[in-house]
Amino acid sequence: MKILGIESSCDETAAAVVEDGRTALAGTVASQADVHALYGGVVPEIASRAHCEAICGVVKETLEKAGTDINGIDAVAVTYAPGLIGALLTGVSFAKGIAYSAGKPLVPVHHIRGHVAANYIAHPELKPPFYALVVSGGHTSLMKVTGYTEYESIGQTRDDAAGEAFDKAARVLGLPYPGGAAMDRLASAGDKNAICFPISHVDGSRYDFSFSGLKTAVINCVHTAGQRGETLTETRRADIAASFTDSLVRSICCRVEALYDDRGALPLVLAGGVAANSHLRRGLSELAERRGVKLFLPPLSLCGDNAQMIASQGYYEFVSGSVAGLSLNAYATKQA
Ligand code: KG4
Ligand code: ZN
Repeated sequence: MKILGIESSCDETAAAVVEDGRTALAGTVASQADVHALYGGVVPEIASRAHCEAICGVVKETLEKAGTDINGIDAVAVTYAPGLIGALLTGVSFAKGIAYSAGKPLVPVHHIRGHVAANYIAHPELKPPFYALVVSGGHTSLMKVTGYTEYESIGQTRDDAAGEAFDKAARVLGLPYPGGAAMDRLASAGDKNAICFPISHVDGSRYDFSFSGLKTAVINCVHTAGQRGETLTETRRADIAASFTDSLVRSICCRVEALYDDRGALPLVLAGGVAANSHLRRGLSELAERRGVKLFLPPLSLCGDNAQMIASQGYYEFVSGSVAGLSLNAYATKQA
């Protein structure tokens, strides 16, 4: 069964064709990162307009690359939540139009479930149940995936997402948006013990995350140096990046550690844009090794927003009977 997936929840316009949830036949991503870099972050109205301009071409190119046309597709899956509302509506409206005109079923897909499903493409042996840790620009969530369409929330961020903290730290260190990947490289050159950044504890939950304190601490660290008239050397910037990253990784790993202290030893699946971070991957790999837990990491090519993951999850949503009518709406926030 071939599913056309469409993703437009933030600043990537993406389409893909995936067979039976596991085999990616084609995928295209049109990134708006360069446009938003001018403003240091995503400008929602510009994102919506850029999706409108790109979506026809991206879908057309994807169907061609997959060696098919819309008639060779069994269902159209689209991200309907969560994300920027105008950006989501572009993809949802386009998906409704193409599904209706071709007489194909329309399948709504939750973006976070999509991120997790990127691992189904990369790891044919992966099947629920497992724990999923989704770490992206907009979300940090720990979940139990009991079935392909059955999600139980275990913990989530009380304030900023990990990716948001990475992007703000990168910005204050003078790196261009989105700064996650550049922070990753800068941190590799620094000393993680140079500065003691906080590791948050959240009252009332062993599994909820909080990154706003860490974000403020790194901003204050750089601003204080500026107020003292200090120029940050390349070494000092690398030390700040390394120390910040170490605190963030340890604050994620201690939640996962608590989960394995308290509950059964299911496999762990990492997903989301920040899953590309080499320090987080190493921290979780060490944890999994220590605990004797099987860890599934997505390939770097499927960590950030893409439509292969939406088409993959779309397949499982479709076979579970989740089909939407033309009244399908988009939602800026929604539980996975
Ligand atoms: O999943 P994603 O593409 O979009 C959302 O659903 O939010 O995640 C984007 C986020 C951005 O904050 C970006 O800076 C971050 O993922 N990111 C990274 C790395 N690569 C991307 N953060 C840390 N290290 C990386 N290597
Ligand atoms: Zn995402």
